Amino acid sequence: MKLRRLHPEPGELSAEEASSGLRLGELAPHDRPYLVLNMVETLDGRIAIDGRSGSIGNEADRELFHGLRTQGDAVMAGAGTVRTERYGRMIKNDELRARRERDGLAPDALAIVVSGRLNLPADLPLLQDPDSHVLVLTASDGEAPEVPARVDILRGDPAPDAGVVLAPLLKRVREQYDVRSIVCEGGPALNHGLLSEGLVDELWLALSPKLAAGEPLTVVTGHALRPPADFDLLWVLESEGHLFMRYAARSPQPAD
Ligand SMILES: NC(=O)c1ccc[n+]([C@@H]2O[C@H](COP(=O)([O-])OP(=O)(O)OC[C@H]3O[C@@H](n4cnc5c(N)ncnc54)[C@H](OP(=O)(O)O)[C@@H]3O)[C@@H](O)[C@H]2O)c1
Repeated sequence: MKLRRLHPEPGELSAEEASSGLRLGELAPHDRPYLVLNMVETLDGRIAIDGRSGSIGNEADRELFHGLRTQGDAVMAGAGTVRTERYGRMIKNDELRARRERDGLAPDALAIVVSGRLNLPADLPLLQDPDSHVLVLTASDGEAPEVPARVDILRGDPAPDAGVVLAPLLKRVREQYDVRSIVCEGGPALNHGLLSEGLVDELWLALSPKLAAGEPLTVVTGHALRPPADFDLLWVLESEGHLFMRYAARSPQPAD
């Protein structure tokens, strides 16, 4: 799958070229993993159609989505997204696992799930996969279900409004699991927590040429981020009218 590069310099590259050799771990600050947020939205900012995101993107989006998963020591998502999208094994096939190994990463990514209530259905394909290693970040003192996947729990402090304070947990993820890079796939509640704590280093945002209305969900939900998170544009790629923007966070600072 070829994409046109519109910015910075015009050119052509494959989805694999755009999502390989990123060496994200080398960009990590000393005390936490480098974190890339990856989202797709419609022209009217909707991130789900009929409750799911799959029909928003095109083939290039899917290739970039799975390509970016090859670049993180861990792939992270909020429990709402994991439940709704019925997450399974993060790295889907041997070819993608081989790509990870070529880039110096373990063949499978650690799956990190953030859950306030520690409410994970045992029949989730991710939990039913014996090859998956799942790390749950939570403030709950509950237990994970008995499942074929290996499930570890890291407990943190409750956040003032809801959920768990993320920064100290990500520090422990780095220290205890040697995770230097995380690809985070949302959703909007988790994104708010990460942005409020200044934990997002990059945003990969795909813009699909559709107007969807209906679902109120946008890339970030929650109270206003003050100051808003600012980003610098690194590149714009295009395929079939879908735009793929890569942004770097401008010195991520915790918001109020
Ligand atoms: N277009 C896209 O790129 C994209 C990407 C992702 C998701 N989505 C869509 O977004 C929708 C899901 O939205 P959502 O708001 O439910 O997503 P979410 O942020 O994945 O899930 C919210 C849940 O995650 C947990 N959580 C998030 N932040 C937390 C924190 N700081 N501390 C503790 N727990 C935390 C809580 O889990 P518990 O409920 O277990 O306490 C919370 O209820 C779906 O329709 C999905 O398709 C779209």
